[in-house]
Amino acid sequence: MEKLVIEGGKPLSGAIRIHGAKNAALPILAASIMAEGTFTIENVPNLSDIHVMLGILRALGCRAELVGDNVIVSTNAVHQFHIPESLMNQMRSSIFLMGPLLSRLGRVELYQPGGCAIGERKIDLHLQGLAALGAHIEENGSQIVCTANELQGAEIVLDYPSVGATENIMMAAAMARGMTTITNAAREPEIQDLQNFLNAMGARIIGAGTDTITIEGVSELTPCTYRIIPDRIVAGTLMIAAAATRGNVTLEKVCPAHLTSAIHVLKRAGVQIAINGDIMNVCALGRPKSVERIVTSPYPSFPTDLQSQIMVLLSLADGVSIVKETVFEGRFKHVDELSRMGADIRVDLNSAYIRGVPRLYGATVEATDLRAGAALVIAGLAAQGSTVIEQIHHIDRGYDRIELMLASLGAGIHRTTPVPTE
Ligand code: UD1
Repeated sequence: MEKLVIEGGKPLSGAIRIHGAKNAALPILAASIMAEGTFTIENVPNLSDIHVMLGILRALGCRAELVGDNVIVSTNAVHQFHIPESLMNQMRSSIFLMGPLLSRLGRVELYQPGGCAIGERKIDLHLQGLAALGAHIEENGSQIVCTANELQGAEIVLDYPSVGATENIMMAAAMARGMTTITNAAREPEIQDLQNFLNAMGARIIGAGTDTITIEGVSELTPCTYRIIPDRIVAGTLMIAAAATRGNVTLEKVCPAHLTSAIHVLKRAGVQIAINGDIMNVCALGRPKSVERIVTSPYPSFPTDLQSQIMVLLSLADGVSIVKETVFEGRFKHVDELSRMGADIRVDLNSAYIRGVPRLYGATVEATDLRAGAALVIAGLAAQGSTVIEQIHHIDRGYDRIELMLASLGAGIHRTTPVPTE
């Protein structure tokens, strides 16, 4: 198994360009099957999750290839509506194919993605939304079969502003007959990106970015060329890494407006941030200050996807901080690993009480999920001594060769490849 080895204690310094957003690219790639023809999707990150999505598109009959940072997808020959269980298990974002396949072929067969390291992650809101649009849904054990002769617009009120459910419903409704409204929709920037993409294909959608999205169904969608937004979570991770190592890093091709809550929290921790258009400089000179209370919740609040990473910075702060996780019920798995590096964190239900320590120490630790892995990388960069991170396939799901990214900023980090055994 590959590992990351980090020699800590070096401040990050220099400039880096932020790659495209995984969480925008995945639903957009899925949505491409709703039109026949060839798309060019630009600024797609080279990540294992993206390769799984391309594999699914090929299994459905598409040609799909990542060339540089562009994906070329040809969707003329989509004929398959069954998504194998093995692909569902590799990536829960396979559920993004539900809305598009229903729309294109009138049928989709897939499997419950199941829980994962960060929580139960049900898909009931996706299924309720599709049923409201007229889909017939059958569940046999873990298999789900959705069929619809024709989807029909509806008024849908989400019990919770689920990102994935909002996206699945938008995609299914784009070619449904009549009007759909989604009330209590998620407001994440990736939802606006999906709206912009679908509209570039000829859809008529307004409201993404607010809690009410209105979709006027159209009879046909056509291929387009589209550029994915920058990855706000990768940008946030690098900002926190810069702060934790007391470095000075300039992020290029970033969208600062998508990072308002993270910028606010980092400023409260004493980090200096300067913004000039799509360039952001992050500079931290001394020990971070504690932040009384951070609560993760849907956008525009502080993102759950930066919760593990910010906890590393607060572990090094002067004072006690509290982080409350309200989105996923199991998202504190990094705490045990950080404790092995000297952090002083106590978890009580969904709150973590973090008493800052002057320094962390290198250790051998395990990435339990994507963002927990990113947090351990930051901890390793800031720690005294060497850190070895295992199970780094989780990190590769969301960061394009993280060791190269960080080494370009002066970090002592490399990937070890396993020695083949005879
Ligand atoms: C997306 C992001 C993920 C991010 C999350 C929250 C992608 C590919 N992933 O995940 O990185 O952490 O948003 O910002 O975009 N829920 C239900 N029933 C449902 C759907 C969700 O109970 O049908 C619950 C989930 O278990 C979770 C909460 O709602 O507790 C939020 O989930 P959701 O917003 O759907 O996140 P994802 O779309 O899975």
